[in-house]
Amino acid sequence: MMRAFEKTEIKNLELKNRFLRSATWEGLADEQGRVSKRFIELHGLLAQGDIGLIIAGFAFVRADGRAVPYQTGLHRDDLIPGLSALTAAVHKDHGIIAVQIAHGGLRTNPELAGVEAAAGPSAVTLPGLAEKTRELTIPEITAIIEDFGRSAARTRTAGFDAVQIHAAHGYLLNQFLSPLINRRGDRYGGALPNRARAVYETYEAVRGAVGPDFPVFIKINTEDFIEGGLQPDDSVTVVRNLVEMGLDLVEVSGGGPWNPKLGPERRKIDRPDKEAYFRGHARAMKEKIKAPVSLVGGLRSPAVIEDVLSSRQADYVSLSRPFIREPHLIQRWAGGDLTPAACISCNQCFDLVREGKGLSCAVKEKEE
Ligand SMILES: Cc1cc2nc3c(=O)[nH]c(=O)nc-3n(C[C@H](O)[C@H](O)[C@H](O)COP(=O)(O)O)c2cc1C
Repeated sequence: MMRAFEKTEIKNLELKNRFLRSATWEGLADEQGRVSKRFIELHGLLAQGDIGLIIAGFAFVRADGRAVPYQTGLHRDDLIPGLSALTAAVHKDHGIIAVQIAHGGLRTNPELAGVEAAAGPSAVTLPGLAEKTRELTIPEITAIIEDFGRSAARTRTAGFDAVQIHAAHGYLLNQFLSPLINRRGDRYGGALPNRARAVYETYEAVRGAVGPDFPVFIKINTEDFIEGGLQPDDSVTVVRNLVEMGLDLVEVSGGGPWNPKLGPERRKIDRPDKEAYFRGHARAMKEKIKAPVSLVGGLRSPAVIEDVLSSRQADYVSLSRPFIREPHLIQRWAGGDLTPAACISCNQCFDLVREGKGLSCAVKEKEE
């Protein structure tokens, strides 16, 4: 695995290899969004495992935009000390850590968020979105964008090394980009420049809050995999514009809760030809943009990873589920044991986080 273990730089960050830990909802925060000791330990373990860059799971930028239980909060200044303890623990183990910031939009859980209806670009519902939905007003959109900026400022204060904007998997910013979900007739809906406006303004708010030297990333759907949803060409255009504005890295994903078969977390990745299921999308993105591209989704074996990197389909590879089962997977591969990741992509890890048991591998736990 020659290329995977190259040292690289993103702005001021020196990464020891080309592996990223993709944002993974840990389910280890309390009702206020405060992270627990176990949350810190989990990331310490990942740092000890020599992952080039860790991206902590999606944190909500506003209490009324929380999507899932036990989700990390970044909506208030009093959350900074807990997160500073996290970044200190990761840095002690020579790790680099970013955090993903998100708003649920139509995927907001109304009960957890204390709202009557989930609010998004339009009052649309689809499988996996809230049943009761409503359209955001323009002042509300402005307020959310400002909160993305404030949360980004908190990430920097808390010692994170970078921040990632979540514009994938059917959450708010992905909803704005989708012609199927975004039916607005004002300046935030309609043609692509309008549908992308909320994403551009969020980027600007984040960049304004963290300054020019701080790495800002985005995780974005290249394709929604639903009739009428976001298409690859539009996604590439949006990212190209963001890169011109100063975006430092794009993580290429796709799909949403409306179509689990073609969703972000596909099951049963048990053969090389099932791996890297967005590689074509990453390649198309990489051809058109100047910033580094990371590919996520079903990467399991060193041979496939090396092929993706050496054929320049992506500059980085992001993994999520394999690290739940094997936090030290990169060290194992670096040590010469090139057996594919042990993760069987069963998605039972989701059940554990949803139930408040915290992120771990259900299969591994049964074996122990
Ligand atoms: C338990 C769990 C939680 C996840 N949480 C997030 C998240 O917070 N943000 C995000 O962008 N993706 C999230 N994902 C998706 C992963 O980051 C990744 O895109 C997906 O699992 C495909 O990669 P993999 O095959 O390496 O797991 C989550 C996935 C799992 C299994």
